[in-house]
Amino acid sequence: MKLVLDTNKGELTATQDGRELTIPLYSPEAFDLLSRQWVKLGWQLRYSYSFTWLGRPIIQMPEDLVRIQEVIYRTQPDVIVETGVAHGGSLIYYAGLCKIMERGRVIGVDIQIRPQNRAAIEGHALASYITLLEGSSTAPETVARIGETIRPGEKVLVILDSCHTKDHVAAELAAYAPLVSVGSYVVATDGIMADLVGVPRAGDDWGWNNPQQAAIEFASSNSNFELADPPLIFNESLVATRVTHWPSAYLKRVA
Ligand SMILES: C[S@@+](CC[C@H](N)C(=O)[O-])C[C@H]1O[C@@H](n2cnc3c(N)ncnc32)[C@H](O)[C@@H]1O
Repeated sequence: MKLVLDTNKGELTATQDGRELTIPLYSPEAFDLLSRQWVKLGWQLRYSYSFTWLGRPIIQMPEDLVRIQEVIYRTQPDVIVETGVAHGGSLIYYAGLCKIMERGRVIGVDIQIRPQNRAAIEGHALASYITLLEGSSTAPETVARIGETIRPGEKVLVILDSCHTKDHVAAELAAYAPLVSVGSYVVATDGIMADLVGVPRAGDDWGWNNPQQAAIEFASSNSNFELADPPLIFNESLVATRVTHWPSAYLKRVA
């Protein structure tokens, strides 16, 4: 796509497949087009690798953190399971929400928890809300150990942020979906990979080999889950576009 931004005229012109469209620059449609391109540019430049949460690096887009906060606050889970810990920033973020809500605890799983990350997480002021498990997220013993810590009747929400191949996310969905409570969610993050083909740092197979594809296929073959992107529960803006790395990520358990 060719995008021409004319700030003098206040217009944005998009040309694709021989078709040209000119729209007002200060319009929701232009916001959508420019945001999609901005997300790609930010991904190439590792923009999401530039934040910390209460002292720990957190590899997320700020809007995704605000949206998952909205979902967690509405859902009020007793247990938040996250696969993919890295430096621990997202675990600390979810633990902080649990403390503020006076409800819930967090279980983090990673195939390799580096000693310095473990020490920082275990030494953090929110450590009492967090259980760390080292192992592959799809290993039956990992899933069994998590299952053992969940008490009957507890409301469980799962966030998948480990290995982002379609097969791995599909295996995670199969393993973790049974833990998710009715009315709660399993979130397959980083489906943005599907839109990144052609960006220099992206893989050639990402058009199909991505978490979004796994989530879409899971929803189509599991009638007790549906794809339900979080609604904008407050929106006095003119914008409906989500500036996100997590498109088609939220699978809600409906039965
Ligand atoms: C994108 S990072 C997680 C970022 C973190 N959630 C945050 O928001 O800061 C992905 C992590 O997944 C872990 N990982 C990769 N394959 C895995 C697997 N099979 N099981 C569990 N963790 C895995 C990596 O070690 C890495 O720490």
